[in-house]
Amino acid sequence: MSASEATPITAPDAPVLDEDPFSDENIANPYPLFERMREMGPAVFVQPHGYYAVGRHAEAGIVASDYARFTTQGGVGMSDIRKPGAWRPRSPITEWDPPEHTRVRAALQKILSPLVVKTWREAFERRAEEVAEAALAKGRIDGVADVAEAFVLDVFPKVLGVNVPPERIKQTGELNFNQLGPNNARLQAALAKTAPLMEWYVNILQREHMLPGGFGEKIYQAEDAGEFDAGTAPLHVRTFFRAGVDTTMAGIGSTLKLLAEHPDQLALVKQDPAKMIKNAFEEALRLESPAQVMFRTTTQDVELGGVKLRADTKVGYHMGAANRDPRQWKAPDRFDVTRQTAGVHRAFGAGAHVCIGQMIARLEAESVLGALLRRVKAIEPDGEARWRPVNTLRTLDVLPLRLVT
Ligand code: HEM
Repeated sequence: MSASEATPITAPDAPVLDEDPFSDENIANPYPLFERMREMGPAVFVQPHGYYAVGRHAEAGIVASDYARFTTQGGVGMSDIRKPGAWRPRSPITEWDPPEHTRVRAALQKILSPLVVKTWREAFERRAEEVAEAALAKGRIDGVADVAEAFVLDVFPKVLGVNVPPERIKQTGELNFNQLGPNNARLQAALAKTAPLMEWYVNILQREHMLPGGFGEKIYQAEDAGEFDAGTAPLHVRTFFRAGVDTTMAGIGSTLKLLAEHPDQLALVKQDPAKMIKNAFEEALRLESPAQVMFRTTTQDVELGGVKLRADTKVGYHMGAANRDPRQWKAPDRFDVTRQTAGVHRAFGAGAHVCIGQMIARLEAESVLGALLRRVKAIEPDGEARWRPVNTLRTLDVLPLRLVT
């Protein structure tokens, strides 16, 4: 007899939301919907897609981390990858629960230990100087192309040890973050755009393409040593590609946008860059969370915050909503670089699957933002910033800025 049969759940069913969180309007500006979701309850059943959405900070943390009730085995996207029509091999790290996950995560953590990451600092700083100098020479820049992409698309593939044209990384990244959401027109367009790249994409993750010294090569070596299941190394490399690039570019872009729009906060950062650049980055991740939603599947009927969720149903924890929950944050919509958010916001997830690359993302952001801010008196908006419409990623397409020296 399962736990749910032993103690039937008497809580009311979750309220029903008859709106599409992935409509053009809600993707362009998700925050009014997030507020409605949070106010309706700790979880709402999203009628158009048949999943439960969780928008409050406390319950988002439970869904992210309580793998006994909210498993990752059905995939961390909206469709259940175990079901006919949606089947795909699961990621050998993000889509396994403990205890299997624990062993794999420990092996990856060895490859990405703080000591290893520290050795990348010098190369990151060197590239950051180049990016900042080039931006300064231009004066009027696109913060996305000239800073976030110019930096991350250079340094991350190098530490991973894979030689990939930047444009292809962006296209496959966009595909990935569309695939985590519903099968809508946005996903279909991304699939059509990337179809000619798929053969190349599978091929580039194979052992023979790993450059010496990168951590991709170390992943293959760990598989040889029996630390990962045979055949999973290319899937690990793919997961890093998917998880590590677009998210970091999105976070750096949003930090620049928010600093340009809030000169008082930029002034605070410039007074004490060593401490405040870190804070500004974390605060931007809170306000404009790059990964907007991740999914789990209920293993049984579950009570969450006083409402009943049915078994075998997808549950999305919307970190974009949780990170502006007034139950957790004072004046949640305000960009405040003095706020202590690291480790509290949900932008890196929570629990066993909490982002393994957060240290790397922070090092990248500190390097490039530090190099730029050291050289300028101010950064000003220089036209309208545009968000890129992607199902589950909050990222800028264009960010016109003027650097004042
Ligand atoms: C600002 C940048 C980043 C953000 C916002 C971010 C966000 C996240 C989130 C929300 C999760 C948890 C997913 C879940 O609950 O299912 C996660 C996990 C993960 N991230 Fe990141 N990430 C960032 C940067 C990176 C980088 C730079 C790397 C690579 C070095 C990386 C690699 C991973 C991996 C491999 C996981 C899976 C961990 C596991 O399942 O145990 N991420 N990330």
